Amino acid sequence: MDKGIGIHIEGLSKRYGTGNTAVDALKEVNMSVAPGEVVGLVGPSGAGKTTLLKCLGAVIEPTRGRMTLGGEVIYNNGWKIPDLRTLRRDRIGFIFQAPYLIPFLDVTDNVALLPMLAGQPNRESRARALELLQALDVAHRAKAQPSELSGGEQQRVSIARALANRPPVILADEPTAPLDSERALAVMRILNQMASQYQTAIIVVTHDEKIIPTFKRVYHIRDGRAFEEAGEGRAGAA
Ligand SMILES: Nc1ncnc2c1ncn2[C@@H]1O[C@H](COP(=O)(O)OP(=O)(O)OP(=O)(O)O)[C@@H](O)[C@H]1O
Ligand SMILES: [Mg+2]
Repeated sequence: MDKGIGIHIEGLSKRYGTGNTAVDALKEVNMSVAPGEVVGLVGPSGAGKTTLLKCLGAVIEPTRGRMTLGGEVIYNNGWKIPDLRTLRRDRIGFIFQAPYLIPFLDVTDNVALLPMLAGQPNRESRARALELLQALDVAHRAKAQPSELSGGEQQRVSIARALANRPPVILADEPTAPLDSERALAVMRILNQMASQYQTAIIVVTHDEKIIPTFKRVYHIRDGRAFEEAGEGRAGAA
């Protein structure tokens, strides 16, 4: 794996609180995800999965360690870049368990909003949105309001939104939880296809046994520590 690109974390730790109520949610976590790769992050409730995604997404500040994104050091025992909002907006896509679409914008504008906020012209932002909606097989609903879509359609729109600014990294927290197994597997096929098409590094937190076989690599997280699952047994992963 090229050490320079993708996402790399070394010795990442996160402690919530202080004193005798402190919780060590992450303990010296190491992880690398290459462009075009989709990795799974699994583990029991309270293990630290969401905490890790939030640190990776610069939503919360780690306690110590090092993170690089696209070869740039973004955290090294402290943030190394001044503007975390711009980092989040332009370089990280988030997909949540619930789609959180904006109810008063149509499907196209839900996807086009982030590129517009990033300063892209409206026409180009909408063209990009439509291209993604086509890739996700939901372009026929481009003018609909979110409330008029099925759950699976809303989730596909939220994936399009996560891809809209061509982020090098997508962080997904339980993206298939509300879906039946056929749709959950379809979402994983889409994420794998998007990863290779746009060379995005994708990290998917999941409890969902149905989708775990779709990952070529899985990190297990337990009590704040992460372990990469041995390669064999995943050899047949799609
Ligand atoms: N804001 C917070 N303040 C204090 N402790 C927290 C906070 N957020 C999470 N924790 C604790 O950190 C640990 C890891 O929580 P986290 O949300 O990362 O777990 P998780 O693996 O995502 O669990 P789940 O599968 O239930 O979503 C837990 O012990 C949790 O109680
Ligand atoms: Mg969680």
